[in-house]
Amino acid sequence: MIHQFDTVIVGSGGSGLYAALEASQRSRTAVVSKLYPIRSHTGAAQGGISAALGNTEEDKPEWHAFDTVKGGDYLVDQGAANILAEEAVQAVYDLENRGLPFNRTPEGRIDQRRFGGHTRNFGEAPVRRACYAADRTGHMILQTLYQQCIKNDVAFFDEFQVVDLAMNGDSCQGVVAVELATGELHIFAAKAVLFATGGFGRMFKVTSNAYANTGDGPAVCARRGIPLEDMEFFQFHPTGIMGLGILITEAVRGEGGILRNRDGERFMERYSPTLLDLAPRDIVARSMLTEVRAGKGIRGDRKIDDYLHLDATHLGSDVLLAKLPDITSFCNTYLGIDPAETPIPVLPTAHYAMGGIPTDVYGRVVRDGQDTVVPGLYAAGECACVSVHGANRLGTNSLLDLVVFGRRAGQHIGDYVKQADAPQLGAEAAEPAREWMARLTEGTSEHHGGHITDEMQTVMMEKVGIYRNAADMQAAVEAVQQLRQRYRAVRVQDTGKQFNTDLLELIELGNLLDLSLITAASAANRTESRGAHSREDYPERDDDQWLKHTLAYLEDDAVRIDYKPVDTSIWEPKPRTY
Ligand code: FUM
Repeated sequence: MIHQFDTVIVGSGGSGLYAALEASQRSRTAVVSKLYPIRSHTGAAQGGISAALGNTEEDKPEWHAFDTVKGGDYLVDQGAANILAEEAVQAVYDLENRGLPFNRTPEGRIDQRRFGGHTRNFGEAPVRRACYAADRTGHMILQTLYQQCIKNDVAFFDEFQVVDLAMNGDSCQGVVAVELATGELHIFAAKAVLFATGGFGRMFKVTSNAYANTGDGPAVCARRGIPLEDMEFFQFHPTGIMGLGILITEAVRGEGGILRNRDGERFMERYSPTLLDLAPRDIVARSMLTEVRAGKGIRGDRKIDDYLHLDATHLGSDVLLAKLPDITSFCNTYLGIDPAETPIPVLPTAHYAMGGIPTDVYGRVVRDGQDTVVPGLYAAGECACVSVHGANRLGTNSLLDLVVFGRRAGQHIGDYVKQADAPQLGAEAAEPAREWMARLTEGTSEHHGGHITDEMQTVMMEKVGIYRNAADMQAAVEAVQQLRQRYRAVRVQDTGKQFNTDLLELIELGNLLDLSLITAASAANRTESRGAHSREDYPERDDDQWLKHTLAYLEDDAVRIDYKPVDTSIWEPKPRTY
């Protein structure tokens, strides 16, 4: 079946819905998503959205932009960070006006709390910058934007898995998707396509990410010759529930929670004397691992899965229930503890991709280091790389990125589609996708996709995790190359058409394998430590050689690396201390 729209948004999280809301004011807009919209992973972002409102103490967008650049270890494009911080204030008030129920100060203003790496006056002390709705901020953003999209007549195609782009030369003309209810292929012809498919933390064994976070947009782009930017930078959030990886929001520390080792020591005093537990995530996650390796984990056995305590007992149950109700309930459900009485066992968990599909500040996808635009193709949110997070994202800048750059992309699309010609696509546009689906569904195989998933997640976790070295990363590249070979012979066991989750999981596995290869190869290539990319064999940041973005092209079984410059037009890179 062929559908015709002006604009097709792929993904229904915060950036997709905001882009759809803007684009739908001026164009016929559809959202195509493998999920029902309010199930999107934006809903798992708990603690807040940053904006220098200055509601509870003095704050300025300039301080916010600086913190973002420094937090990202100076790999951030500074003009883009400035846009993020400047437009944050209006973005939050827009959400408020559209109905988002933020927590309030006693005077009725939007309340704000502390978060890691957000400071006053260029690093002096923590500042209250995160606007929040208890610990359900992302969930509230989804609800707010979804109802606005419905009001604006956006067409929703829920439970459609996008598997390919329709290209005409270098221009994008639409997407091809599998309808999960029927197994049929659909072609969505569009003047503009925006990918907003979120992250890909599912390449790691322990992750805060939903099962759906399989990097579908970036993988489709990579297979179509579009490079992926800065894929070596993957964030580990310090506080996942031990063993499970489920997120315990940084807002616990923002409200006063403290990380402690087996001696009850507040060890962050030694690693970050100014910001303590609210240092940026890369620093806290490394500090935690260092404690575990030194035998200071709670068990003290120095094993990689030993854990630490997040102590929120002194906050009291009134604060926990009023400001962190979901966390209180997670602790109860998954650990059988009350955080008002018992410290929470935590370990870093794979959380967020700083890299992704390269875009400019209007969300337009670019295909090289000269910023050559791919006409008709946009990306926003976690699947994109603008780059406002550089080598390490600050907490709460993720929801902000979705809103600011989703909105900017939607507005740009609104203008673009007015002058673009409507593409004429025929059934042949679905041919590459049809061949892929046929390969996955016809014949039999001795390989099982589940084993490949398990091996991929283990190798990525063990060899491309928080601390890295050349031998491990090279071993990961080779292991993933072999897994991709095995994947080529995999077939579904369920040959049914309707809601074939066996097929869906194999499609997602193919995407994760491609992205794992690009991530491991990009990491092995960068011979320095910066932000979340921490090499034991190259422990220093090396601005002379490496103050540049990676562009990684997937070429069959290999990854070709190129570079593009970083915008350092506002602040000169300095050593990071907190
Ligand atoms: O800790 C958190 O609430 C996560 C927020 C984020 O990743 O921005």
